[in-house]
Amino acid sequence: MNKIGVLTSGGDSPGMNAAVMSIAKAAAMYGMPLVGIKRGYNGLLRKSTSLREDMEELHLDTVLDIADRPGTYLRTARCMEFMDPAWREVAANTLRAMGIDGLVVIGGDGSFHGAEHLCKLGIPCIGIPGTIDNDLAYTEMTLGYDTAVNVCVEAVRSIRATSRSHDRPAVVEVMGRHCGDIALTTAASTGSEIVIVPEVPWSVDEVAAHLNKELAKGNTRATVVIAEGCWDSMEPFDLYTFLNSHGKRCYEGEPMSAVRLASVLKRKCGMVEARATVIGYTQRGAEPTARDSQFAFEAGHLAVRLLRDGISNQVIGMKNGRIFYESIDTALQKERVFNRELYDLVNAM
Ligand code: F6P
Repeated sequence: MNKIGVLTSGGDSPGMNAAVMSIAKAAAMYGMPLVGIKRGYNGLLRKSTSLREDMEELHLDTVLDIADRPGTYLRTARCMEFMDPAWREVAANTLRAMGIDGLVVIGGDGSFHGAEHLCKLGIPCIGIPGTIDNDLAYTEMTLGYDTAVNVCVEAVRSIRATSRSHDRPAVVEVMGRHCGDIALTTAASTGSEIVIVPEVPWSVDEVAAHLNKELAKGNTRATVVIAEGCWDSMEPFDLYTFLNSHGKRCYEGEPMSAVRLASVLKRKCGMVEARATVIGYTQRGAEPTARDSQFAFEAGHLAVRLLRDGISNQVIGMKNGRIFYESIDTALQKERVFNRELYDLVNAM
């Protein structure tokens, strides 16, 4: 194997740049030229007018400058065309035409499926898990998760300071798509009283009863941490009737949201005020923590070493605190196990 490529795909996650830096360092060490593909798999579809829009040779001095930056220097995107075998052929042909013998894909499960398809077309690929969601069952951590959680913890601590000062409970929404890990770890790390996740069914009445118990104990500054995907596991609740009957305007069919939940809880629990905060993209835009940066460093090197050694169709992960790799197929078949014990503990204490 001579020249290799790297791309970042899906939502950007802190540590992607650090992984690219490590890949560049390892490639330089093994004497392998490195090409950065832009905007995920899109850069391989050759739809742009200039090649520079789609890829660039990555030199160490460029990537050394970006290692600790959030975001992704290579840009990222979700590439719908990659679902189509004809476009995947185009991508494989682009790689062959550019003399790129192997590819490192940094992204989540959708990106790994793309890599698996490319392997079947004869392009050796290695995946590095890059997503804040921590939703890949085969690995203990994904690149960016630790950073995202730390952003949330800092935010919740700040919100709790205001909650304490004003005797004002708070609803805080964090990201994670269909995975409640960011919410759970944030809640456990901040001593938040209630956590709501997509993995466990819940009802508005249960949460209101729980909050009422806290208020009865004199805890007027409780925090309800919710995962953005938690609406999927919520028991039906007639938001329209409830809010309108309490003098709050709500349109028919309006979906539940963090702001609406705070509004409902305020009325169900007879509170003066309850506020909602959606932490949002700040979770993806922080400088990577040491934990994410170290994972990026080790994973970047291992990806290049595997390609150099002719090993392909693998994803890299963390098991018992140690870096490891296994086949993409095996990794993607594993089912996530949600930490129910921790969830129960947070909600019980
Ligand atoms: O997968 C990472 C993530 O940040 C999820 O937590 C979130 O649901 C999603 O991406 C948002 O994606 P986008 O920025 O494309 O809307």
